[in-house]
Amino acid sequence: MQTILIIDPESDFLEWAQRHLSNAEVSVHTAPGVEDGLKQFTKVKPDLVITEFHLKPVNGIELLKRFRQQDPQVMVVLSTAFPPTNAVIESMKLGAFDFLRKESLPYDLRPVVESALATREASRTEKLAADPAVDLGDVMIGQSPAMQAVFKMIGRVSRSDAAVMITGESGCGKEVVARAVQRFSARSAKEFVAINCAAIPESLLESELFGHEKGSFTGATAQRVGRFEQCDGGTLFLDEIGEMPMHVQTKILRVLQEGEFSRVGGNETLKTDVRIIAATNRNLEREVERGRFREDLFYRLNVVRVHLPPLRERPEDIRPLALFFLQRLAKKKNNSRLRFADDALDLMESYNWPGNVRELENTLHRAVVLARSDVLTAGDLPLGQNSSARPNEDNAPSVGDAIRILLSTARESGSPALPWIERRLAAEALSQAGGEAAAAAQALGCKPAAFKRLSAPQEE
Ligand SMILES: Nc1ncnc2c1ncn2[C@@H]1O[C@H](COP(=O)(O)OP(=O)(O)OP(=O)(O)O)[C@@H](O)[C@H]1O
Ligand SMILES: [Mg+2]
Repeated sequence: MQTILIIDPESDFLEWAQRHLSNAEVSVHTAPGVEDGLKQFTKVKPDLVITEFHLKPVNGIELLKRFRQQDPQVMVVLSTAFPPTNAVIESMKLGAFDFLRKESLPYDLRPVVESALATREASRTEKLAADPAVDLGDVMIGQSPAMQAVFKMIGRVSRSDAAVMITGESGCGKEVVARAVQRFSARSAKEFVAINCAAIPESLLESELFGHEKGSFTGATAQRVGRFEQCDGGTLFLDEIGEMPMHVQTKILRVLQEGEFSRVGGNETLKTDVRIIAATNRNLEREVERGRFREDLFYRLNVVRVHLPPLRERPEDIRPLALFFLQRLAKKKNNSRLRFADDALDLMESYNWPGNVRELENTLHRAVVLARSDVLTAGDLPLGQNSSARPNEDNAPSVGDAIRILLSTARESGSPALPWIERRLAAEALSQAGGEAAAAAQALGCKPAAFKRLSAPQEE
């Protein structure tokens, strides 16, 4: 017989949940508040507690901590109407089994309870310690089930030192996730260093990461400490890992395997303890198949995978994100009168955001700068244009935008024609840009290094 304790101020909910979950193997106890909940916990020693998050005088996270102090293996499921991001991440970090939205309980509660009780059975002997709570300074927005799942994942991976691979289109929030992982991890007091592998010239990347000895190459006038050394004990975020040249991949693999490296031009073996979080908007599995990315490194980096879906696939997040960015702008501009007109919110919610959250943020920034009044209307939102695109009379997407959208669709579907399409588009973009590689890369929405690779002839 297993025992569940449900804490919730709503008697209707308690009644429903008790009926819904009780059976021959499970007995369900209920408590309308914190005080009663704590008493019952000591009395019935439940295997699983299901609690509302918003409670007085202490919230669900505080309860979670107390319960797990008394019984480190008790399963706890939190729930509330709109779970706050910080609370979801933190509760997962503290070992909550799940954090559910109230409205999804009719469908989710039973399967979650079953799997929590099964986990409890299986892990009776496992030792889990509760960590002290960490405060989330930076805000991350997301009400969609996809983002809620991401927050839970962040909480779980923060407990370990495992390598994390974050995937998703440009502007989805990959760096935001990487920072959150570091902030919630045991390494939070140590350095977080972000390196964009596509932005650093190939010839300098190795020295940037591993440092160099004086005189090791032309221009190396002094010894230099690399990021791996600087970041000892901390977290290194390798952005656009797909752009990393092979010889650097080999060195990274060595750090991951042995915790060792040497500076460029140096013989000394140095030790470092760095957690790696990698991000990419390329399909790395395909890069591995094509021999452009080391398979062994891929598996080392891909221990935990966090995928950020594009904004158009989680439209529930558009409104809260827009309101959040507007609030932040209002604060920055010291203008508390900033508002959205309804048509602006409607337009934003129906737009497909090829540039994802970054495009939303930039659009609002520009709109606030250019708007003639404090109430932003649909007309104030320059959607579908980027700063370099020419204004369109007929409101069709610019060629650049059209290409970007097509490319991202083809990438997502893993189309076998992709290499050919990419090459063809790269050539077209180059010719449209009058041979200017930088402008062509921008039109295609990729970094110069990535563009170089796209446009280079390939052996198939
Ligand atoms: N969930 C979120 N809540 C609040 N802000 C967000 C969120 N996701 C992204 N942003 C904001 O959107 C912008 C883009 O995010 P970020 O730089 O993390 O994207 P990215 O996936 O790393 O993009 P790229 O692939 O182009 O490097 C940042 O200014 C970030 O603060
Ligand atoms: Mg990034």
